[in-house]
Amino acid sequence: MRPPLLHARCPELTGSLPFLRLGEAPTPVRPLPALGTRAELWIKDESGYGNGGWGGNKVRKLEWLLPEARRRGARTILTVGGLGTNWGLAAACYARETGLGVALGLIDHPVDEHVRAQLERLRASGATLHFLHSKNRLILAAPWLFARHTRGRSLPYYLPAGGSSPLGTLGAVEIALELGAQVEAGTVPEPAWLVTPVGSGGTAAGLALGLRLTGMRTRVLGVVVNDTLRLDRTALLGLARRSAALLRARGADLGGAVPAPGSIRTETAWLGDGYAHPTRAGDAALARASAEAGLTLERTYTAKALAALLALDAAGRLEGGPVVFLHTHGPR
Ligand SMILES: Cc1ncc(COP(=O)(O)O)c(C=O)c1O
Repeated sequence: MRPPLLHARCPELTGSLPFLRLGEAPTPVRPLPALGTRAELWIKDESGYGNGGWGGNKVRKLEWLLPEARRRGARTILTVGGLGTNWGLAAACYARETGLGVALGLIDHPVDEHVRAQLERLRASGATLHFLHSKNRLILAAPWLFARHTRGRSLPYYLPAGGSSPLGTLGAVEIALELGAQVEAGTVPEPAWLVTPVGSGGTAAGLALGLRLTGMRTRVLGVVVNDTLRLDRTALLGLARRSAALLRARGADLGGAVPAPGSIRTETAWLGDGYAHPTRAGDAALARASAEAGLTLERTYTAKALAALLALDAAGRLEGGPVVFLHTHGPR
């Protein structure tokens, strides 16, 4: 098993922070000239990451979360998401492989073909699904969910939406360290911007922390696609700091490394009517990405992030050097 770059960067974590490799690293980076941007555009393609039934950025989080669940003696992961949750599906696929069960509290959002297909996959995944419809009902049901999934003295390991706990966030630290190594190897020039969708925040926060550890000046452009959580820059930086604190608590020597306020920029103008509501700009970006660059995006996350990238580039607002688009969606 290829060890994580985080263990190479901080060998003191090797014994204290367990890791379970679930995909082929490093994920590829390649130029993406077909979309005709002013900035030099590249893609770091997470879509193929993961050897189980689902791929993409969620698998990176599980590489840290699943061994932690086992370390705690949990038998079930209890987590939450929307009806089409990629996170819930990835958790169900990979937890099963490690002998853990998954219970999902689900809340409603608009249902289209993609969401219907996701629900079918979730039903087939073996996860226990609890349809709770709204965030309020989910919060009210929390004690019952905990009790329902406690087995003897083994409590469920609760994970927030999207797996964006300080530990899950390390998944994106690893992506950033990988990009740093690819820059060092001359595979890709040092980017000015790394563009990602922001659904629960762990990916953007982890990228910012990981980029800080590489010493690169690359900034994260987080395109916010979820209005049900607080996902502004302060919240994302707070999560990055909590991840850094976790690394220190497990013995890592990070020097003074925490992401500076300027290391993350968030954009909310591509959200449209809300989480999982498709937008015209997103659909246009999705069609262009498919026709001109052969990319398979979806409407909730990656289409909106690419729409923002294209519009900001056209307006001259992605200045300073090459831009890397993080492709986070991994259907199978
Ligand atoms: C395909 C895809 N891209 C991006 C994201 C956003 O990542 P994060 O939840 O870490 O903000 C998610 C999940 O929320 C996702 O499923």
